[in-house]
Amino acid sequence: MHIRPRRNRKSEGIRKLVEETKVHVDDLIFPLFLLEGENDRVEVESMPGIYRLGLQSLLKEVETCLKLGIRAFDIFPVVPDHFKNPKADKSFDDGFFYQKALRVIKKQFPEAVIMTDVALDPYNSDGHDGLVKGGEVLNDETLEVLGKQALSQAACGIDIIGPSDMMDGRVGYIRSVLDENGFQDVSIMSYTAKYASGFYGPFRDALDSAPRGGDKKTYQMNPANQQEALLEAELDVNEGADFLMVKPALAYLDIIHILKESFVQPIAAYNVSGEFAMLKAAAEKGWLNYEQVMPETLLSIKRAGADIILTYHAKEFALLKDQNTP
Ligand code: PBG
Repeated sequence: MHIRPRRNRKSEGIRKLVEETKVHVDDLIFPLFLLEGENDRVEVESMPGIYRLGLQSLLKEVETCLKLGIRAFDIFPVVPDHFKNPKADKSFDDGFFYQKALRVIKKQFPEAVIMTDVALDPYNSDGHDGLVKGGEVLNDETLEVLGKQALSQAACGIDIIGPSDMMDGRVGYIRSVLDENGFQDVSIMSYTAKYASGFYGPFRDALDSAPRGGDKKTYQMNPANQQEALLEAELDVNEGADFLMVKPALAYLDIIHILKESFVQPIAAYNVSGEFAMLKAAAEKGWLNYEQVMPETLLSIKRAGADIILTYHAKEFALLKDQNTP
């Protein structure tokens, strides 16, 4: 035998030399849940170690994470029921606690990359990402509200708008609204291929944002489809998206891969709440070693082609001693 692949595995030093993929904290975006109060910290039952945080607690968390090297955060508001209505009016209210908090966060940590979510579900009493009329989720009427929401968030000084609603034409519409109002420099990370997935369950618990009727299948993608992701990506690129995202990540590694092969834009993957919960639950039962499977999971997403990973594991990853030797 002249060729013995094991020679390149014989020591840690050699293995590191030939390592093809590395995950770095620079690649990660840490999603955080904001509560209306100041100092509260309420753990999400189905996401051990992840808390809904009042503004002061969230500022402390951002500070800690920045010291650990995490630079980017995606901030989601937990909207109390009495603020929700069928028109999702609070989504574009500049005086709402979310917008106020975003301004404070950006003022206190101008160097942090702050991303926000554009979709109506946390604010909509119907729990859908768009306006609902007669049981139908309206597309073009929703765009108008999404534009106002994006504008209201951009005016807080945030860096990246993340439209997660899957309405047709929303990237182009939001891009025009931002540009017309002087926010040419605010980026758009489009949830390009967002599937109607069961893996969002813990997130909907955290935000109390589950649809009150029906499901999201008329706007989120069918998990069976791959070609359709290419169509969505082409539209988003033409409409001005700066980043393309695939969501969820683990059951959709093939989608991450084909988007990476087909487009030059940076590809992001959202390692969603249910994927986080699975590892945590198995680890709690002693069935998996979290410190081994967590970095292995992130590595798999990176290896599939993601440049950026949105993940609830971000802080624990940053705290690992050897991040790339699962
Ligand atoms: C809202 C939104 C969802 C997630 C991110 N933005 C839930 C949904 O579409 O129902 C899911 C994130 C996660 O599960 O971690 N449009």
